[in-house]
Amino acid sequence: MENHNKYYIEKLAQINAAAGIEKPTACVVTYGCQMNARDSEKFSGMLFEMGYDLTNDEQAADLVIFNTCCVRENAENKLYGNLGNLKEKKRANPHFKIVLAGCMMQQDIVVDKIKQSYNFVDVIFGTHNIYRFPELLYSHFETGDSIVDVWENATEIVEDLPSLREYPFKAGVNIMYGCNNFCTYCIVPYVRGRERSRKPADILAEIKVLAANGVTEIMLLGQNVNSYGIGLECGTTFAQLLYMVNDVEGIARIRFMSSHPKDMTDDVVFAMRDLPKVCKMLHLPFQAGSSRLLKLMNRKHTKEWYIDLIDRVKANIPDIALTTDIMVGFPGETEEDFQHTLDVARHVRFSSAFTFIYSRRHGTPADLMENQVDENVVKDRFNRLVTEVNAISLELNEGRVGKTLSILVESEGKNGVLNGRADDGSLVHFEGDKALIGKYVDVRITEAKTFYLIGEQVQ
Ligand code: SAH
Ligand code: SF4
Ligand code: F3S
Repeated sequence: MENHNKYYIEKLAQINAAAGIEKPTACVVTYGCQMNARDSEKFSGMLFEMGYDLTNDEQAADLVIFNTCCVRENAENKLYGNLGNLKEKKRANPHFKIVLAGCMMQQDIVVDKIKQSYNFVDVIFGTHNIYRFPELLYSHFETGDSIVDVWENATEIVEDLPSLREYPFKAGVNIMYGCNNFCTYCIVPYVRGRERSRKPADILAEIKVLAANGVTEIMLLGQNVNSYGIGLECGTTFAQLLYMVNDVEGIARIRFMSSHPKDMTDDVVFAMRDLPKVCKMLHLPFQAGSSRLLKLMNRKHTKEWYIDLIDRVKANIPDIALTTDIMVGFPGETEEDFQHTLDVARHVRFSSAFTFIYSRRHGTPADLMENQVDENVVKDRFNRLVTEVNAISLELNEGRVGKTLSILVESEGKNGVLNGRADDGSLVHFEGDKALIGKYVDVRITEAKTFYLIGEQVQ
């Protein structure tokens, strides 16, 4: 596999040299979730091996690859806007290449629209064959034709792709791909395929290499990490995997996302409680409070069941930080249904909540439901929800003023302020030397905001 790619990677380096571009540049633009962010690191790795320098400047680059998302309509619109902006550049400079990849490309209607309205795009492929990117780009350079190669299903999991990691001290690691849940509003199962779990040995080998290279924080990634293990011969469960990762020397923090409430078994709760490296934070989307709506969404849990689960988690791990995804405006949602959503938010008290307005997705069952909710009603509910969840976030943050937290410093922001994260995932700003990036620092919290905390380094 690797040699196969190497062949095309070398050919591409020659092609670029022959075109008189000594050091071509490429820009990887990423939309969507952590899964896409991780795939983009692989695109960057492959491009780097083809001889491209990576840049963030779309307009200056010799090649732009868009790693697309289609979970909501506004994610798709961003791509079309960007393509419109690059049209002139492409016309003026035919050697400039535009590549489209990711979830959006798994939909026939999108590919048809691009062929029709954006026919200057050079290469299109989807989520199931990202490892073939060098080969597809090569055939474009060889033939001059637009190349479209979208696979309907995933074949085997391809290990050992090159990768240029975004951070030297923290890393996302895929443990599984795809989703089997088919929530009726969601496009992800159609564009990411069925659940496939990576072998524990492959996951651990990757994490050991990361640890040896200085990574201390690992985020285990999957659409539904707690159904990890389906189809594996060894039968390893997610809880067992947590134990294995906890044993890797050099790793200090383990996070994971996302979890589905229906698969949040007690053994995972106990592993979180008992394993020192597993961070005390849990992202557990509930989407809506009304059990009637949850059934229509095919979420396979009720309001009461979710609340009971949260209460069990809190009883076992009292200092846990809970986060969630909430959606308003699912077809048929009434004011009464919405009140159940507010009720769950008030009962659980999430540290932070990602709130979304329901977006109709072509090909999903909910798109065919007749009772779509009026836009203004949805906006009003959305605003009330955001007010409520933000007030709770602020209250929880205020309760932490005066505490000292261990912060992994991630980046330098404006005016020399450092950004870092506590064990429970909260964002902390404090003044300090940027040499601290990648290190753990004790910070005393002095001020609380809705979305972050402000503190000072404890000397
Ligand atoms: N697999 C993860 C989440 C994947 S998508 C999980 O189920 O937890 C992230 C979030 O986007 C979802 O939790 C949901 O809240 C939101 N989402 C998915 N489809 C959507 C749609 N059609 N409209 C609006 N929000 C949507
Ligand atoms: Fe979408 Fe549901 Fe799968 Fe999450 S669990 S990706 S919301 S279908
Ligand atoms: Fe978007 Fe695909 Fe992730 S649709 S949310 S990038 S799995």
